[in-house]
Amino acid sequence: MEDLVSLCKRRGFIFQTNELYGGLQGLYDYGPLGVELKNNLKEAWWSSMVYERDDVEGLDSSILTHPKVLKYSGHEETFTDPLVDCKECKSRWRADHIEDSKCPSCGSSELTEPRPFNLMFKTNVGPIDDGSNYAYLRPETAQQIFTNFKNVIDSTSRSLPFGIAQIGKAFRNEITPRNFIFRVREFEQMELEFFVEPGSDEEWHNKWIESRIDWWVNQGVIKENLEIIDVPQKDLSHYSKKTVDIMYRFPHGVEELEGIANRTDFDIGSHTRHQKEYDIKANVKENNDSVTKLAIQNKITNKWTIPYVIEPSAGVDRGVLAVLNEAYKVEKLDNGKERTVLALKPHLSPIKAAIIPLKRNNEDLVSKALSLKKSLQSLRLGRVLLDNSGNIGKSYRRHDEIGTPMCITIDFQTLEDDSVTIRDRDSMEQIRLNIAEVSSYFQSNLL
Ligand code: GAP
Repeated sequence: MEDLVSLCKRRGFIFQTNELYGGLQGLYDYGPLGVELKNNLKEAWWSSMVYERDDVEGLDSSILTHPKVLKYSGHEETFTDPLVDCKECKSRWRADHIEDSKCPSCGSSELTEPRPFNLMFKTNVGPIDDGSNYAYLRPETAQQIFTNFKNVIDSTSRSLPFGIAQIGKAFRNEITPRNFIFRVREFEQMELEFFVEPGSDEEWHNKWIESRIDWWVNQGVIKENLEIIDVPQKDLSHYSKKTVDIMYRFPHGVEELEGIANRTDFDIGSHTRHQKEYDIKANVKENNDSVTKLAIQNKITNKWTIPYVIEPSAGVDRGVLAVLNEAYKVEKLDNGKERTVLALKPHLSPIKAAIIPLKRNNEDLVSKALSLKKSLQSLRLGRVLLDNSGNIGKSYRRHDEIGTPMCITIDFQTLEDDSVTIRDRDSMEQIRLNIAEVSSYFQSNLL
């Protein structure tokens, strides 16, 4: 993990937040390359969920959430972790993260009994700070999907089965954030709430589990590093009938990358008005506050249904950590030296191609390089960089380390015959190609 963390800082992927003031625990910023990688991962998820299917709509909802949403969702009561205090050094820990009943900081056995600690962040809304006008920073993006259920069906005329996808920030006041970007207090989720007819839920659950494993493999995660587990009954969230976790072999151990839950009719049943009119199977809190009917009408039978929900919910930051970990390699070269390479799938690479004039600031070479950069950039396949450092060896090493799939060199021969050298990151092989063929080569190597 240390090598990866060091590369992330050195090359501009991920920085600790507010480091200049000592940092804030459990918060990270994505630098120039990190933001590209993260956007590419989100884009791959959005494409597979929304563009490549015909049964999913997208949403981008607000982060600040009405307290009643989180009352009826059960979060106010149950979104807690067990907290213990060390009586000796006054540090606080999550009880289930403590080994041998000893304080991880000072080793004392003098710990308090565990007590529930609510993980939601609360904030004041508006200018009056008397505690009455508050909202929560959403602890999951899911609830805002449920509260928009009627808006989406009314505006799209969807019928079951269909889904609503959302990518966005979520906030949890984790007791012990740790392991770099694995467990943080502000993170992003990629969540799909897929609404199905009751009775077809188990079949859809299985389909989504398979589909999500395939997606991670397409992002470069090798199957041997994934473990699929059935969450034991005692550990299920209050809304879940069954949850399957996709676990990944992170550098610090095997932990959850994505959860795929069968949330039954709990969510829509919790937030609808007139709950008694429906045959809600889940154990929902009586709701006399909602003003909206959230059931969906079958267009053939005219019957109103509270749908079941299948939810694949993945962490973007954990995804970034997983794909970085898969891609990071230190290779021995024939000349006895070593090179570090990030063998990212090209669609995830922060920079898609580097165009390198052989001689720094040579007007003819730079102008040729600039014109090629413009034409590749106009394909809108991601960032193309003009690398005018003038040291080809150093540029190759840097681009290997940040995962650029190809480096294109403009040299003096280019000025004579319009040919360029293209170096492949993984094989390090070089080919000579006419500049007119570069666009199609670039496109076919990225898709
Ligand atoms: N809507 C369901 C839900 O939020 P979850 O298992 O609590 O379920 C889903 O979270 C995913 O969000 C996890 O699989 C994980 O990838 C990510 N996640 C949860 N807490 C996180 C944290 N503190 N830091 C980073 N990612 C987190």
